[in-house]
Amino acid sequence: MSKKRVLSGIQPTSDSFHLGNYLGAVKQWVELQEGHDAFYCIVDLHALTVETDPALLRKRTLMSAAQLLALGISPEKSTLFVQSQVPQHNQLGWIMECMTGFGEASRMTQFKDKSSKSGADAARVGLFTYPMLMAADILLYQSHLVPVGEDQRQHIELTRDIAGRFNTRYGQTFQIPEGFILKQGAKIYDIQDPTSKMSKSSGSGSGLIDILDAPEVNLKKFKSAVTDAGREVKFDTIEKPGISNLLTIHSALSGKSISDLEYEFDGKGYGDFKASVAEVVVEYFRPIRAHALELLEDEAHLLAILHQGSEKARSVAQATLESTYKNLGVVL
Ligand code: TRP
Repeated sequence: MSKKRVLSGIQPTSDSFHLGNYLGAVKQWVELQEGHDAFYCIVDLHALTVETDPALLRKRTLMSAAQLLALGISPEKSTLFVQSQVPQHNQLGWIMECMTGFGEASRMTQFKDKSSKSGADAARVGLFTYPMLMAADILLYQSHLVPVGEDQRQHIELTRDIAGRFNTRYGQTFQIPEGFILKQGAKIYDIQDPTSKMSKSSGSGSGLIDILDAPEVNLKKFKSAVTDAGREVKFDTIEKPGISNLLTIHSALSGKSISDLEYEFDGKGYGDFKASVAEVVVEYFRPIRAHALELLEDEAHLLAILHQGSEKARSVAQATLESTYKNLGVVL
């Protein structure tokens, strides 16, 4: 049986991935490379839905690629590419827009949240059509599985609806994808405010761990991580959200189970435990950071890897685009 196809995308909107990006998404991408035919896309066109600085977009696209490679995405096992280098995304994106109801698109909660933050006049039309471009990203590759966070569930549902509708009206064209919603256990919280998700847009910065930050910076952040009342290292998300978050992080990177960690730190204080989490995180990312920085030194090599991935993506995408056009009656 042929391998199932996996596709996911990440926006190049920051210099460094943070710990939540890695544990909540990229780590699963690396695991899914085994036994699947994986396509991973740096979705730079999606990043254009808000005001962007050209130098930053370029730098962050390359930094995202370097980090994905350093974190274990292998160009031999997966197809790693840049969305804008595959023009079929824009081409199918238009078809997706023509297949989506205005009311249907207006119900997307992410659009409603983001546009209400900036105000209707500042929100771009691209922010509104974002889910249709995402549907094109997914359907172009006949993807079976789409690993995403909970916040993308509605976009996957929309993609499935559009694909089903298209297939019914114009004949079998698209594989109906399944969302592979990443495990709750992979959810990482701000280490200063463990009730909110680790994220660039919220929080103080001191509660966010960037994987490319120097080891000293991250050691310091963990030393001042917020803990809870009591002194027992115990997993309890209600009474001990801070310690529970640190246990999740430790366990994910050290490979030790939460209960083994509770046992190991039984009778020791929060201080010892925080020092151990800090060390596990810093040592885990030390070689990854070095590798990413090394990849960034040789831009021509990095670009060659991306061009190779984009070329492979284009040939798969073109086949889907052609059958879509053909089924629609477009003269080829
Ligand atoms: N919207 C996704 C996010 O913000 C990124 C994305 C774009 C994506 N296209 C995709 C994810 C296709 C999965 C599949 O996280």
